[in-house]
This record gives sequence, C-alpha cells and structure tokens, in this order.
Amino acid sequence: MIGVFDSGLGGLSALRALSRALPRADLLYYADTAHLPIGEKSKAEICTAVKQALCFFSEQGASHVLLACGTASAVALPECKDLFAFKLYGIIESGARAAARYSPGGHIAVIATRATVATHAYAHHILALRPDARVMELSCPTLVTAAEAGVSEGVAKALSPLVESDADTLLLGCTHFPLLRGTIAALLPAMHPIDPAAQTGRALLPHLPLEGHGRRECVTTGDPIPFAARAAAVLGEPLPVRGLHL
Ligand code: DGL
Repeated sequence: MIGVFDSGLGGLSALRALSRALPRADLLYYADTAHLPIGEKSKAEICTAVKQALCFFSEQGASHVLLACGTASAVALPECKDLFAFKLYGIIESGARAAARYSPGGHIAVIATRATVATHAYAHHILALRPDARVMELSCPTLVTAAEAGVSEGVAKALSPLVESDADTLLLGCTHFPLLRGTIAALLPAMHPIDPAAQTGRALLPHLPLEGHGRRECVTTGDPIPFAARAAAVLGEPLPVRGLHL
C-alpha cells in the first residue's frame, strides 16, 4: 500500500495523480486536519504529528509513503527518514529541481508556510542545482486557510510583496497553494507556477508498486464529514473518509 500524508486537502492533487497512473495500487490518504495549519506549529510539534502519521502507515503495512506536504517534507523528513521500514519521500527536491530547470532568468519566488520558509529547504536545493539563481522566499499562512475553505479572500494581500517582483518562476511550496492556482495566476500572471507534489508524483512513479486491489481510502484526525465533502469537491469524485481517534 502507498501512503500519502498532508495536513488537509493539499496532498489530494498528488493522490489524484498517483490514482490515475497506478489504477491497481492501494492508496491510503492521511489528512491530519487536527494539526492544521501545521505550517504554524513548532518543529517539535510538526515532527510529533508526522511521526504519529508514519506509525499509522507502518501499522497499516505501507511499503511507500509520500509526504505530500511541504512543511512535513522540509521539517520532519530529515528526522524520520530512517525510522521506518517503508520508503519515505518528500516533495522538496523534485519541486526545487523543476523550478531550477524551468526558470529562464534564474529568478525564482518560493511561497510556502512559515515553518517551511524557516528551513530555507527549497532555496538550498535550488541553489545547489543552480548557484546563479536568485531566490526570494515568502511565507503565506493565510493561503492555507483560504485553500481549505475554498475561498480567495486574503490571497491578494498575502502575495502583495511579489507583485513588483521580476521573478519568472513561482514555486508553490505548500501543497495547498495549487488549489488556489487560478487566483494566484491572475495576481502574478508573469510567473510560471511549479507544483512540487505533481512533480514528485511523476518522478516517483517508476519506484512505486503497480499491483494491489485498487483501494482508495482516507483517514482524518479531524471531523470526517466536512472533510469528505471538501475532498470530493477537490477531486471531482467521492473518497471514503473515516475518522481516526488518536
Ligand atoms: N499543505 C501543507 C504544506 O505543504 C501544510 C499546510 C498547513 O497545514 O500549514 O506545507
């Protein structure tokens, strides 16, 4: 079974990409809505929440787990990567690689959660691949709540520091942000958006198991009823969701 982790709706784009590419694989999505917004938590809180999810995936017999969450990938992955028997992946490297490769002028804006920006993980990876790049990082916590609620209020204000920027590439470093893709593109039309979870999903495909029973399941640490409704709206199809009592 392949596990996919996010604090909420953000990782569903990765789930959808994996689901389409691997129709027979078993996929289990863990929405840690009890800890949302995880990007506003301390490093210790983030690591504890992610380890809790990884223990659950381990109990369920996962062979591969994708942290489809920029915050978990930047903050907790380095601490967790050797703790479990399954293969564990994050989204930072593929996202940074795609931005470094795409950017025509080497001027890249990274938007992410506060916890992710504090690690400078995307900037480190971009500069390792492309030392001439100019990287601007901006934390946008209000975009997470806007994306969860399916509204665009507050997005323009959060992105206002980038309006005068001449960056040609915009790395959507939190997986919730592609849910606001239309609003973001209208505000920053000259920047090419990069979705790290989609890039990671594509890069991982050759390493993931093809076979299973085609199961699609979701657990949430919060209320399953509203989450199931929002997840179905994002995915365009129903997803069975059950509550997980920690
Ligand atoms: N979607 C997650 C990320 O990529 C976390 C958003 C949050 O809960 O703060 O960072």
